Amino acid sequence: MFLFKTKQKEGNDQIKSADPSEELADGNKAPITPKRSRTKRDRKDSALSKFKLAVMISGSGSNLQAIMDAVNSGEIPDSQVALVLSNREGAYGLTRAEKQSIPTMVINSQDATKLLAILEAHEISGIVLAGYLAILPPDVVAVYDCKIVNIHPALLPMFGGKGFYGIKVHQAVLASGVKYTGATAHIVDKEVDAGAALIRGVVPVLTGDTAESLQKRVLKVEHEILVKAVKAMVQCKIEELIKKPEVLINKADREGAAEFAKGLLELGNALTE
Ligand code: GRF
Repeated sequence: MFLFKTKQKEGNDQIKSADPSEELADGNKAPITPKRSRTKRDRKDSALSKFKLAVMISGSGSNLQAIMDAVNSGEIPDSQVALVLSNREGAYGLTRAEKQSIPTMVINSQDATKLLAILEAHEISGIVLAGYLAILPPDVVAVYDCKIVNIHPALLPMFGGKGFYGIKVHQAVLASGVKYTGATAHIVDKEVDAGAALIRGVVPVLTGDTAESLQKRVLKVEHEILVKAVKAMVQCKIEELIKKPEVLINKADREGAAEFAKGLLELGNALTE
């Protein structure tokens, strides 16, 4: 993989995985006081305790699997997938978690108070939206400020926001005629798919690609960059990535990578090891 450090982004807008069928309801919810995010010092003070992750899913859970594998292998160190939550009953990701004896729950995605109580009860320090096709209530986003990472199957800000989810993203990419697509791991904020990007992975669009073939190749890159972003969260390095998001280009895509790299260098990005 080539690794590019990109210039600091202006503003720290945020995002979330979007499902147009699950818009937030304007309920009269009591304001919830954000708790302080876990800091480097906290991590040192509790050196023996693992960073507890909650992974939220809606479907197959291949991104969840990548995270569990990376935690088990130590690639994501000092951490534990402590809880897997789904807004959909029967999501295969729940079975993947159960196979590893990880507690699972099916939740009402709109009930912030209940969701926060569940997260608190499991001492969750960070949340990963791994193919979670619902919008998190703003109260949850506020409490876990900069501690929620989402994976989106496109190069944000392109092909993001309401209506861009699942296969629809790849259909839109093909219809647009762009030569490159990819995936973005980013921080979740109150706006859909607008949070600070952490890592982008580039995937060339090939002649003859269908939305399905593109989806398959992008999914592989999602696994790779999501693991890196979760590792950064566990190691308290998210701020560094927000300041200098990374871009990964697979060496196997040699021709596309060279062209893309040229473009990035022309834009003033630095190529690093
Ligand atoms: C991924 O493409 C993710 O980006 C999108 O939904 C898909 C989920 O895949 N939001 P999986 O459930 O992780 O296999």
